[in-house]
This record gives sequence, structure tokens and C-alpha cells, in this order.
Amino acid sequence: MSNLLAIDDLGDDFAKILRWAITYKDDDEIAPESQPLDGMSVGCIYEKPSTRTRVSFEVGINRLGGHSLTLLSGDIQLGQSETIGDTAQVLSRFLDGITYRCYAHADVVELADKATVPVINALSDLHHPCQAAADMMTIMEHSDKLEGIKVAWVGDGNNVLHDLMLACAMLGVDCHWAVPPGHEPNSKVVKRAQRIAAETGAELVQTHTPVEAVTDANFIYTDAFVSMGEEHLETKLADFDGFQVNLKLLEHADQDWKFMHCLPAHRGEEVTDEVIDHEQSIVFDQAENRMWAQMSILTYLLEKNSWDVYSDIMEV
Ligand code: CP
Ligand code: NVA
Repeated sequence: MSNLLAIDDLGDDFAKILRWAITYKDDDEIAPESQPLDGMSVGCIYEKPSTRTRVSFEVGINRLGGHSLTLLSGDIQLGQSETIGDTAQVLSRFLDGITYRCYAHADVVELADKATVPVINALSDLHHPCQAAADMMTIMEHSDKLEGIKVAWVGDGNNVLHDLMLACAMLGVDCHWAVPPGHEPNSKVVKRAQRIAAETGAELVQTHTPVEAVTDANFIYTDAFVSMGEEHLETKLADFDGFQVNLKLLEHADQDWKFMHCLPAHRGEEVTDEVIDHEQSIVFDQAENRMWAQMSILTYLLEKNSWDVYSDIMEV
């Protein structure tokens, strides 16, 4: 049984999972016809608010013929007094898969450890793998080839950046990130990404200067400076002076730049209206692709038989 706690858990199958996600999107008859999750139930636990993750999982599971249950932590015993381990074992008796959005990454690790069905991290303070899958799918849709592509991150060294750099490393895409001093990404995750990049040839570069990261970049990505669970760190905002993605900064990028954001955006803070509403902004493609990417991941993790059939089709 496999889990998806960070994007590198998908290993060598990642590219194939993305190609299958694009197939799901391009031929939207496939999932309704084949119904790979027919008769299956997936529980989706949320400790934090969500719009995209919640709706994309519910609709995507439904399109695959499965049944989804949204479990808000304030409504189930997990949020009151029951342990993560007991919750994992109980839910495993009813469900075929569990998605979990939590604060501490250690919690989704513990849930996966005790569950006997696949667990998908739906965002923790350290990783957001489903976002990275949708992001790489979106990059693939907007570029003829991944070779020679440069992705630039400007902002906080956070959960979204962690899986983005891992995903870029896995697919051989160059990733440069500009973060303020003191807001660098987790060093263990960076080391993991560097190990993968050494195999694929991806270039991973950290800087404290947004212009450096953005120069000649094809895809420019930012996210909230203050993530969920960090609201008490509002003073953090002051450190991000000069890290806003605006048209002036984008003058340094490739002229066909595409703007990316996982959303929700704090307009006027990490990005200006004119950038996020620009015709070269692809943020709503990213949001839509959450569903297609997760449908492919769910098929891969929960229904290996269908996956093997699809894999054979894709090899042809
Ligand atoms: N990008 C993302 O995960 O959005 P939600 O918080 O709305 O799920
Ligand atoms: N970094 C953000 C992503 C939200 C989808 C957060 O964790 O709040």
C-alpha cells in the first residue's frame, strides 16, 4: 500500500501520473465510463479551511464513481479527544482511502503509519503534494517541452515551495527561489530535492534577490507570505518588502512569462491585481487541474488494477 505525503513519494511514476491526468482532462468521457473508484469511499479530513482542495476532491472522487465524505476536524472525535492512531484504524475499517489537511506534518505521517488504506496529504505545514502535481501538469500544458524551462519562486520558503522544488527536480525542470533571509525553505527538503536533481540534471538555486530568480524565467510563482497556522506571525510580513510579484519585476522574466499562484491570493500583498488578472496568468488553470491531477493520483493509489490497464495504454 502506498501513501502520498510528499510529491517525491510518487517516484518514477510521477510523469506517467501527470500524463494520465492530462488524459482525464482532455477526454472527459474516460472517468465517467470506466468508474475506477466504483464502490469505494474516501474520507477527507480538514483541520484548516479549504476551497480548492475540498471541492476538487469531492467532485473528482464522484467523477471516478466513488463516494467522498468530508470530515471537518471540529465535527469528528479527532478534533476533540481521540488520537490520530485510533482515528486512522477506525476509518480504515470503513474507507478505501483518506485525505488529510493538517497543521503539523507529523500528524499526517502518524495517520498514514496507523492507517491500513492509502493516505493522501491534502496540505500540511511542510508539504502540499497535490498542489505540486497540478502545478507541473499546468506547466506541461503551457510549454512544448520541459527541457530548458525555468520556474522562479518569489516569496516565503513554505510548504508549496517544498513540493514545487521536489517536483521540478523529479522532472528535470530548473527551479530558482528568492526568499528573504530567515525565510528559507526547510534544509532537509532542499537536500532531498538536490539529491533528485543530481540524477535528473535540474538546476536548483536559492537567492535572496527576486530579480535574480526571475531573470529569463518562464513561470513565476508566489504564494501568501503568511500561511495558515502562522497568523500569529503577522509581523513576518515586514520581511517581505520587495518580494511582491508586479509588472516591474516581470520585466526581467522571459517575455512569454506565465504567472502562477496556488491561491488563495492576497491581492496587493504578494501579487498585484494587474499580474494575477493578466492574460499570462494561469492561476485558474492550476486550480482546475487540482481535480484532474488528484483523479489520476487516486486511481494510482486506490485502484492499481485500473492503473495497470491505463499504464499499458500509455506505453503503446
Ligand atoms: N491551493 C489550495 O490548496 O487551496 P485551498 O486552501 O482552497 O484548498
Ligand atoms: N502556503 C499556504 C498554501 C495555501 C493553499 C498555506 O499553507 O496556508
